[in-house]
Parts: sequence; C-alpha cells; structure tokens
Amino acid sequence: MSEGAAKKEERRKFQAIKGTRDILPPETALWNRVEQTAHEVFATFGFGEIRVPILQMTDLFARSIGAETDVVAKEMYTFVDEMQGLPDPANFAISPDDYVDAVQEAVKAGEIQVTNSNLRALAGLKSQLDMFHERGSNQSTEEAQLKFRIAASQIQFGDSISLEPEATASVCRAYIENNMQQLPQPVKLYCIGPMFRRERPQKGRYRQFYQIDAEVLGGTDAPAIDAEVIEMVMTFFERLGLEGVQLHINSIGDKNCRPKYVELLRAELRKVKDKLGPDSQRRIETNPQRVLDSKVKEEQAIIENLPRIGDHLCDECAENYKAVKRELDMRGVKYRENWRLVRGLDYYMRTTFEITAKGLGSQNAVCGGGRYDGLVELLGGPPTKGSGFAIGEDRLILSLLETGHSPLATRHSPLLYIAWMGEKAYTTAIRAAKNLRNAGFRVELPPVEQKFGKALGQADKLGARFALILGDNEVTSGQWTLKTLADGSQAKFTEPDLLEHLKKQL
Ligand code: HAM
Repeated sequence: MSEGAAKKEERRKFQAIKGTRDILPPETALWNRVEQTAHEVFATFGFGEIRVPILQMTDLFARSIGAETDVVAKEMYTFVDEMQGLPDPANFAISPDDYVDAVQEAVKAGEIQVTNSNLRALAGLKSQLDMFHERGSNQSTEEAQLKFRIAASQIQFGDSISLEPEATASVCRAYIENNMQQLPQPVKLYCIGPMFRRERPQKGRYRQFYQIDAEVLGGTDAPAIDAEVIEMVMTFFERLGLEGVQLHINSIGDKNCRPKYVELLRAELRKVKDKLGPDSQRRIETNPQRVLDSKVKEEQAIIENLPRIGDHLCDECAENYKAVKRELDMRGVKYRENWRLVRGLDYYMRTTFEITAKGLGSQNAVCGGGRYDGLVELLGGPPTKGSGFAIGEDRLILSLLETGHSPLATRHSPLLYIAWMGEKAYTTAIRAAKNLRNAGFRVELPPVEQKFGKALGQADKLGARFALILGDNEVTSGQWTLKTLADGSQAKFTEPDLLEHLKKQL
C-alpha cells in the first residue's frame, strides 16, 4: 500500500452497516414513550416481559418459520460458532488416527452437528486416513497431508447460529426449556428487541429493526384468545394516538382444509400461468398462496377470480373464524376481512391478521400475527396452543412522526444551567447539581469555568429555562441568583427556597 493510500485508510470514516442505523435523541424519547406504554398496556392484559437471547440455533428458525420461506432461505445472518478444542490438523500435533477419533467423539458429544455436509466431510476424512494406512505408515507425504487437511477443513466445527429474525420461535423455545407448561395456563409473554433480516433496505425496512412481540401460549384455543390479543394491540395503538389504523383479518384454515385449498389454487393458477409474471409463475409450484400477495398490476384481475380460502374452510375452521369475528365485534374492534392476506411464515393456522397505519408508503404493515397451534410441539415440546403478534417498532415510530407526533424535543433540554465562577462557587455548584438532580430536575453543570456572559449564551443555546448564577457573592451570602432566560428577570433564593420554587415551575 502506498503511503498516501495508508494515510487515507487511517482516516477512513466508519459508517453504520447497510440497513442499520443510529437512533438519536430526541427521537429516542419517543421510543422510550412507546415502550413504556407497551409495558403499561400489556400489563393490564396480564402479560409479563421475557428477554430472549439474540443468538439462537439456526435450526430453530428453519424448523419453525420454514426452510423455504424468504426469511430463512435468504435473509438470516448465520455463522458457525467455531468450536475450540480440536487442534489444527495442519501441524499434526496428534496423529491422523487420533484426529479422526476426536472428530467422531465430537459428533457423539453433539459438538459437531450431524448435517449431511458434515457426514460427507467425515467420510472424506476417513477415506484419506485409509490411504495413509494403505501406504503402510502413518507418516504422510506432503501431498497426503494436504489432502487430509482439505478433507478436515470441510467439517463444520461448532453450531450454526443465527441472529433472531423474529421472536416467536425463541419465545416458544424458552417456554419449553423453562418448563412453562407447568405454570397456570395460558402463559402470556411479551418481549421488545432487535431483529435481523438481510432484506433490501428502504423506508420502513431495515436489516436491524425492532419488534414488540406478544405471545399467548398454552391453555385453550378459544376464539376469545385471538380476539383479546388483537384488542390489546389496538388498545396500545389507540393509547399512542396512531393514525389511520386498519386491521385486516383472515382465516387460512388448518391441516385438514388448507392443503386441499392449496392444491386447488395451484391447479387454477396453472390454467392461467401464461398470463402471470415470472415471480408468480415460479410460485405456482413453490408456494401458490404467495401469488395472492402479488402487487403486479396486470395480475390483479386474474387473482380476483381465483378460489378463495373462505369458501374452502372445513366446518371447524369456518365456525372458528365466525366466532373470532363475533368476539372482535363484542370488543368493539373494527376489522376488514382480506382473503388475500398471506403471512410469510409457515407456522400459522386459522386466524391471521395484519395492521396497517398512515404515513408508511409501501411498507405499511405495522403489525402482523396470528394463531400457531402446534409450533411448540414441532419444536419438541408438549401439544400447546399459541397465538400472538409482532409490531414493527421502527414503522410504528415512523408513522407517529409522519403524523406530527413530536419526539418530545424539549424533554432533553436542561431545566437549569449552573453558571459558576470561582473555586468556591464550583464546590457549591457541584453540591447544588447533586441535590437538584436527586430532586428530579435536569441540570447542566459546565465542566470548566466560563465568564457569566458566555455561560448564559450557552444556557440559551441548550434551551434551558433557568440559569443559576453562582459567584463569590452568592456563595458568601447564601442568596443564589436565578435568572429566567425567556424574559431575563432575576430573583434571589436560599438553597431550600430555590428547590421549592423550581418544584412549582414543573
Ligand atoms: P412479521 O410479519 O414477519 O411477523 O413481522 C412483524 C412486523 O415486523 C411487520 O409487520 C413489520 O412491521 C415488522 N418488520 C418485519 N420485517 C421488518 C424489516 N425488515 N424492517 C422493519 N420492520 C420489519 C413476525 O415476525 C411474527 N413473529 C409475528 C408473530 C408473533 N406471529 C405470532 N406471534
């Protein structure tokens, strides 16, 4: 590297990774208000907060969300959590025989996953070992060493781990692992945290985004559970003053009726294949329901004439869907039925829903959810009912900001700026700042001495309401000067009086 290039590299500006962003004050005040409101509203519905790790086993998501879904097939951040322990075969600290034994032990101990590629790699390693033996010696030539090393490098040591793309699977895993089926059912849990999907970033779509997720696990699958979960998120949105909220609901049937409907849909789609675009043509075979999601203009008229799930639900699912709507009516929750509502995750059955809000453009779903009976069982737990939702917090905030909700800018300005001058005044200023902050006031204490004029200018810039002027005179007399910055008026207070006075100002 040339000297110039090296210097340039040194000065390189680091930027947030594509699709991630910093959320700054004052906007963070709005995030805090949203999360605080979630804690309050969800508590009134009997939900408790759970915190789950961001790192989870890749298989957890492949099994629950579905290996063929976009989220799992294309969007997860996955890496191998390298196991420490087995020496590098390159330096042959152990013989090839011992090395192969150690690999087999690690497979047995679950330290190396039994995947097809690992089994293939292990077979390759063994055949290299046989070759050593055929040569009649464990002492290998350079070429044989190299081949053995290459075969060893094919083995994936350690677990495949992914950053959570959603929370439902992790919450179900935690339910099983912590034996929550032994608690009074249902167990109502919620969590707030970052999620990761490698999607094409755009307004309202990020690679690190935040969800507020709620799940009801265990107990009954009564339609009232679905309705109450929906009522809770609608109450939360109302409390926040979210505008243009629209709830879209659907029933996607269960394992009795949905496969038959999907086959019917596929058969009908094949008949009109030539009129569809390339994406939809592909989906006829892979996932015909996703065609219903299409936004392609020319396909809309065709889609309108396709068979609708609502006409093909089995009696139980049809009755359940009716009951969910009745329960929503009883709670005064307004909804729109949308037979084209298809969720992008495999675990749903029966009730599914999405909520849209104002000011979001094409990424306007601010919440998605539904029922997922059977997911806990699929993950190795007992048969368990499940229903829940996740709110996209970034989109929720975006909608609030776009519709004029202030990020509460003023809350970060100090109430009081302490303009101090002189050694003695500094000691008093530190004590005053401590006492005032303990009483709950926002106080700015400048770290270096400033002339009063400069200090007052700074107080103004920061948007402080008051300046407390502390100089030698004030400290000696015990009479502190409080200046109201808006009108320049001044008054003298003793320390206790000042506290009382400020309390009245809030
Ligand atoms: P989801 O529809 O994949 O469902 O995500 C829920 C919400 O997360 C979306 O409606 C959207 O607001 C937000 N979201 C998703 N991807 C992004 C992104 N890349 N950028 C910004 N926001 C995004 C689930 O995740 C299910 N686990 C919901 C659930 C819980 N179902 C039952 N329980």
